[in-house]
Amino acid sequence: MKSVKIGRGQIQVEDQGVGTPLLFVHGFPLDHTMWQAQIEHFSTTHRVIAVDLPGMGTSSLPQREMTIKQYADDVAELLVALDVQDPVTFCGLSMGGYIAWQFWKYHADRLRALVLCDTRSAHDSEDVAMSRLEMAEAVKQHGPEAIADHLLIKLFAESTFDDSPEKIQATRDVILRTPPEGIVAALHAMAARSNATYLLPGVHVPCLLLCGEQDTITPVQEMRQIAASLTNSELVVIPEAGHMAPLENSAAVNDAIASFLTTLT
Ligand code: MLT
Repeated sequence: MKSVKIGRGQIQVEDQGVGTPLLFVHGFPLDHTMWQAQIEHFSTTHRVIAVDLPGMGTSSLPQREMTIKQYADDVAELLVALDVQDPVTFCGLSMGGYIAWQFWKYHADRLRALVLCDTRSAHDSEDVAMSRLEMAEAVKQHGPEAIADHLLIKLFAESTFDDSPEKIQATRDVILRTPPEGIVAALHAMAARSNATYLLPGVHVPCLLLCGEQDTITPVQEMRQIAASLTNSELVVIPEAGHMAPLENSAAVNDAIASFLTTLT
């Protein structure tokens, strides 16, 4: 891992391999390790950059109030600090996808293509935003334990609980290690985010959409609608996977990303 100074904080990032850059941005409240299978696979052919967002993994706590745009700005600043010159293929899962839309909006010159995994473009309903603020209060009082089990049930397909309990345990460990302040900052940022759906028709870079067939957080039907609004997109449904498709069925996800990359000139 490299440690990179961004503003007054330190961002931790995996930076492996050489070639055209592939950037991986994790979901909530996780870290770069959810992309381990992608890091191993693609660092043989690409420069793979997998970040721990501010307040997550081993990155330092956010030094200011976070918005989804601020996470995108921090990622853009990270690319400058790492001297990444070429436009990146930005792969974001869920919250990482929310950040991807803002990256497109404010840093399009740095973008080659988008890989959007198990995410949505719409903002939160009032009920969802309210439940995030309640979750933030619970984490402030009781730490990440207050939300870990509730999240895990939603993140993974039932079959993953049966077939790969070690993936659930590893993800649980990541959640429990996440600093409460980082979780609270992300929950507030997600609750306050704006609707990115209006951006979709203008996104001119090629987009690959991936969705676990059993994803109940951002279901296939919702991702189909996103794909229909984008001008240059392909949706691949990942079998035997829920919301954490890159971790649950890494072989299918890697195949889909690899074949998408061959279409980029
Ligand atoms: C994530 O995986 O990043 C979360 O499910 C995002 C969310 O809570 O909306």
